[in-house]
Amino acid sequence: MTLTVTPSGQACGARIEGIDLTQDLNASQIEELRQLWLEHKVIALPNQSLAPEDLERVANYFGEVGEDPFFGHIDGYPNICAIQRDADEKTPIFAEIFHTDWSFMQIPPAGTALFGITIPPHGGDTLFADQVKAYEDMPDALREKVKGLTAIHSAALGYAPDGAYGDNDQASGRSMQIKPSEKARETCPHPMVRTHHETGTKALFSSAAYIQSFQDMSLEASQALAMELYAHQTQEKFQYRHKWEKDMLVIWDNRSLLHCATGGFDGYDRLLHRVTIADTKW
Ligand code: SIN
Repeated sequence: MTLTVTPSGQACGARIEGIDLTQDLNASQIEELRQLWLEHKVIALPNQSLAPEDLERVANYFGEVGEDPFFGHIDGYPNICAIQRDADEKTPIFAEIFHTDWSFMQIPPAGTALFGITIPPHGGDTLFADQVKAYEDMPDALREKVKGLTAIHSAALGYAPDGAYGDNDQASGRSMQIKPSEKARETCPHPMVRTHHETGTKALFSSAAYIQSFQDMSLEASQALAMELYAHQTQEKFQYRHKWEKDMLVIWDNRSLLHCATGGFDGYDRLLHRVTIADTKW
């Protein structure tokens, strides 16, 4: 297999061609892809005609299938959920805030695989923000503030019954299957600066989307710091803007990135299938 790897030219991300993911890969091919994923943090593989079984198999090359605590799934495939918005839908864009998938879990997912099925002619890009670069390029005063800092994560803002995707949202005609629950109020502590157990790099981990407060800090001071961090973490110089194509598979590393959905496709359907990739340890 000779891969063509084209870096995005932005903060992170690469396009990879010269591989047919409908076929089983051998151990060395899997290792090569995994290394490219770890290096570029998000890889895009165009022109892959993947059935749901293929999507699950390819995601498995990167880790065990992970849990999706607040999503429904597509018929017959309990590990695949649909990120979808119908052409006439008026609901807010799902996940239009920089976040790390399910960072409130004890062992958050290593990665996410997202496969483009119906892609609008414009809009619907996914933004990624490189958190290794954001950590390396921190002003001294902010670096001092995150030293030894523990963040308290929770899904409440999004998935509690009174959250952004809670009961009111469910009643407003969202096509995507989201399952709000009281469980979203549970909290989990993680260091704000995370060492990646596969690459050894340090990164800022997660964002105000799931960080509810910081240990030993008042709620007011926590929220102010979370917003100061968010402004730093999401600067354009750390970003890669991903443009989707039909039949494109994108796999990103949640341990090194934030990501954010965008709108701009009202009047067009958008459908992607997603598999969450579990990690083996923090
Ligand atoms: C997500 O955060 O999983 C969705 C990203 C997107 O819809 O672009």
